[in-house]
Amino acid sequence: MRKLFVRIFTILAFTLLAGCNDSKTSGPHQFTIGMSQCNLGEPWRVQMDQDIRTAAAQHPELKVVFKDAQNDTLKQRAHVEEFVSAKVDLLIISPKEAQPLTEPVARAMEAGIPVIVLDRSVLGDKYTCFIGADNKKIGKAAGQWIVKKLGGHGKVVELEGLMTSTPGQDRHNGFREGIAGSGIDVIFVADMKWLEPEARQEMESALARFDHIDLVYAHNDPGAHGAYLAAQAAGRTNIAFVGIDALPQEGVPYVQQGILDATFRYPTGGAEAIDTALKILHHEPVPKQIVLGTRLFDRSNVAQGGEPLP
Ligand code: FRU
Repeated sequence: MRKLFVRIFTILAFTLLAGCNDSKTSGPHQFTIGMSQCNLGEPWRVQMDQDIRTAAAQHPELKVVFKDAQNDTLKQRAHVEEFVSAKVDLLIISPKEAQPLTEPVARAMEAGIPVIVLDRSVLGDKYTCFIGADNKKIGKAAGQWIVKKLGGHGKVVELEGLMTSTPGQDRHNGFREGIAGSGIDVIFVADMKWLEPEARQEMESALARFDHIDLVYAHNDPGAHGAYLAAQAAGRTNIAFVGIDALPQEGVPYVQQGILDATFRYPTGGAEAIDTALKILHHEPVPKQIVLGTRLFDRSNVAQGGEPLP
């Protein structure tokens, strides 16, 4: 019996020690980064976490703890609060919505935790660094591409990304600038909240209401694909589709297969977030904003790997 107790005690002691080894002070990791992801439902966000994981794996002093809010703003607020209570050394957040995540991010900053905001922004400037592509520029380029594609005139459906998130707002405003002064008529607008099934449903309504649609501009590739599926199911095969993201495993093959007419690369910023995190953790200066580049992929250039936007 005593032997058994000794054995249990030894196992417990080893387990506890192994646990301590993982902590920031005594283990190989000097820094713990909390990564608050708003959703892992879209391939693009899975890629973002993967890019962060791959970049962090090059730096044994970093440990990244990932949380997925499953597209629930309240859950994401709670995740940020949990990271603050756990006193992580740095927070990376890709917030679902701007306004509701602004305050938790500001509180992390007040607690002395530097914050990198990735892809979708918060309100104001209470964060350390924002990293993302220029969504207004992408929206404008999409608008101009569409004007050219349709020869200046046509009936267009716009399927918006979540309009309480900054990329949705910027991709909309940029697009409207891009088509300004042209003969493009936006006949149907709906918020599909970045989600393929919602986009498909909204497109079914658009198809039922309008006999003639020339093109669908969706704020992301899952949205464009959902709209394409709705059009196919309705036998409406003469509609063009434009999306955004251009993942090598999603949007680019869609263009190669003739599903989409064009898509714009929206880099995840995962690797840049880890580069920037290291600088912050080593007390090196970083810019307030890091703007990532983009590329256009359409049928004329997809075989050559797309082309950068000027
Ligand atoms: C994924 C996603 C992408 C889009 C980005 C905008 O959740 O909708 O498709 O480009 O978020 O923040």
